[in-house]
Amino acid sequence: MRDRQARIEAVLEAAMPPPGLAPERLHEAMRYAVLGGGKRVRPLLAYAAGEAAGASDERVDRVAAAVELVHVYSLVHDDLPCMDNDVLRRGKPTVHVQYDEETALLVGDALQSLAFECLTARDLADDPAVQVRMTGKLAQAAGSRGMAGGQAVDLASQGRTLTVAELEFMHIHKTGALISAAITLGAACGRLADAETRGVAHFAHFIGLAFQVVDDVLDATASTEILGKTAGKDAAGQKPTYVSVLGIERSRAYSRELLADALSGLEPLGARGGRLADLGRFIVDRNF
Ligand code: IPE
Ligand code: IPE
Ligand code: MG
Ligand code: MG
Ligand code: MG
Repeated sequence: MRDRQARIEAVLEAAMPPPGLAPERLHEAMRYAVLGGGKRVRPLLAYAAGEAAGASDERVDRVAAAVELVHVYSLVHDDLPCMDNDVLRRGKPTVHVQYDEETALLVGDALQSLAFECLTARDLADDPAVQVRMTGKLAQAAGSRGMAGGQAVDLASQGRTLTVAELEFMHIHKTGALISAAITLGAACGRLADAETRGVAHFAHFIGLAFQVVDDVLDATASTEILGKTAGKDAAGQKPTYVSVLGIERSRAYSRELLADALSGLEPLGARGGRLADLGRFIVDRNF
């Protein structure tokens, strides 16, 4: 994990406009948002899926960076006063606090564009048609049928009680879609048999949902210091979460069920799925 975290840091650094380039303040704020923080779970998943499909890390680099850039954009906007109104992210003041709201808005816009620019790099897949489909997948995962759509449901649900089915819809969209994209795009850099592709998609779906169930649990149980973001925000903001609907213990148990279901998808891959399985366990067992 450490090696690949260092690797994606270097790839992101190289993909980012240099700090002295005009407009300096925007470029500085982009670097502030992206570099030197976060668990880098999505890039790690992309590399692990690429590895399972026989793709080199060099080939997966751009895909891993693209997904992380969309993720960071989503965090910068998620923290804005008009959304979750958070002041702390990855152990630092949020972008709109450190800079200002206008800059935070533009940082998100620019990171999303940069993500798609990354996917225009040469030879991300053997077949250019596959690379075009990969780009479409990330677009869908980020947009109204994915993350942005899930965020819309999240905001519209504030102060309401959701059914488990509605909660699942929200989580699969706001968080699951991008986690799934990291995995399926990483795998698309290499080659898998059809049954393996279906298995990886199954893993991606369930681990993406599990990720947000655990995020809900950690919001209610972990400290601000360990999370690097303000704990207890969901209850304070009257957000419907798995914790508010099922309680902490049943949410934890549910995340473990989701993990078991996710891991079953990796069976066709045998040992090649080992690192994806490890990351799946990390996602559910983590304490930050
Ligand atoms: C936080 O994601 C936002 C969600 C989608 C739940 P992460 O927990 O992956 O945040 P970083 O990237 O490690 O900061
Ligand atoms: C985040 O959900 C989903 C995103 C698309 C960013 P949260 O609002 O729960 O994420 P955190 O807890 O602020 O990281
Ligand atoms: Mg939010
Ligand atoms: Mg938030
Ligand atoms: Mg949260």
